Amino acid sequence: MNLLPKKKRLPVVLLATRSIEAIRSIPLDHFQTREAVSTFGVRSAFHADPVLAVVDLPDLVECEDVSRPVIGAALDSMRSQGVVVVDSGQFLAEPERWVGEALMAGGLRTGIRQLPSRVALVTNYCGGVGKTTLSLVLARQFRKISGLSAAVVEVGVGGSSLEARLGEHTSLYNAITQNQPPEDWEGISLFPSNGWEAETLAADERLPSFLAGIVRGHTLTVLDAFPSNPLWKYALELVTDVIVVATPRPDSVAQTEAILRRLKEDAGTLEPQPRIHLVLNQVKSLGERLALTGQLSAWVGFDERCAERLDGGLAESLLELLYHNWSQQKAKKSGRNGSGPRPKRQALRVVKKGGKKDRGPRREKAKKG
Ligand SMILES: Nc1ncnc2c1ncn2[C@@H]1O[C@H](COP(=O)(O)OP(=O)(O)OP(=O)(O)O)[C@@H](O)[C@H]1O
Ligand SMILES: [Mg+2]
Repeated sequence: MNLLPKKKRLPVVLLATRSIEAIRSIPLDHFQTREAVSTFGVRSAFHADPVLAVVDLPDLVECEDVSRPVIGAALDSMRSQGVVVVDSGQFLAEPERWVGEALMAGGLRTGIRQLPSRVALVTNYCGGVGKTTLSLVLARQFRKISGLSAAVVEVGVGGSSLEARLGEHTSLYNAITQNQPPEDWEGISLFPSNGWEAETLAADERLPSFLAGIVRGHTLTVLDAFPSNPLWKYALELVTDVIVVATPRPDSVAQTEAILRRLKEDAGTLEPQPRIHLVLNQVKSLGERLALTGQLSAWVGFDERCAERLDGGLAESLLELLYHNWSQQKAKKSGRNGSGPRPKRQALRVVKKGGKKDRGPRREKAKKG
């Protein structure tokens, strides 16, 4: 009987490059490497399912039966399936970023030191659809899993929803006008604001650079935004992703069409164009997912307790929209995922009358590094 502890198989990095610097930048405590100098060697290494491929295609020795274009096409196809494929120049420009993305592709999401920054504007005209809830869980789950910095900025109407939920914190107004540092909730920088303060801030020339500073200082910035807020247009200029939150309620579906039209107008001239995702929240049954069918990017099940507790698990499908590889490996392995439209055999987490949940998608334990 073999009593030796089973060694964990590390994810594979394919190195088909002559750059010693690139080769030495791979952290061997997280990855095993396969080196290849020829097209044949690269093809053989594909069988090891690499999560990261650093390939300088023109430098490969071309073997008779495996041409460079064939390898190029295979790499494109791997890229479309979530493998991180770069050449050594790209890799060395931002090694921590690519390593971080590859760790996510390998299902490992802790110990990531760098990811591309994202600015997500969570919005709809419709009240009570879950804009604030999803903004907070998004930042919380991102921070918890990646350890990277996150901020939530409120661009709402009326009183502050953030403060109603989390208690008083230094406001965006005080941060800008009195230089007060932001306060922290679960490691996240919070910038609550109310509609009246926003009126004044919109006329304050320090506002645009302050918002840009928040974005620069955090890997993920989430803007909980209502379109009539006077800061809306400044916020929109910064965003990489717009998340339109709707619910299956008929009024919400109608309002959603309106916000999509508004976004087309307001964001149409921005360069680069933000990506627009439509998310259906508070989905109670499979039938309800048919609302906005064809346009949906993701959905989130109805789960009162998780929403009240601001459970980061609610944000998994949203993080997948922002970061391509966020849960891909997890879903592939388990055939299940937290929530979202992709897996076929997914059940919903529906709270039954007695308070018990049905057997919805089991949340897979986070992989330990
Ligand atoms: N997925 C969910 N399942 C169950 N309840 C949810 C879910 N998402 C949000 N909720 C609940 O819906 C209510 C409204 O959510 P929230 O305040 O986030 O909406 P909002 O769009 O920000 O509203 P407002 O327009 O008033 O700012 C809250 O009680 C929240 O707990
Ligand atoms: Mg709100």
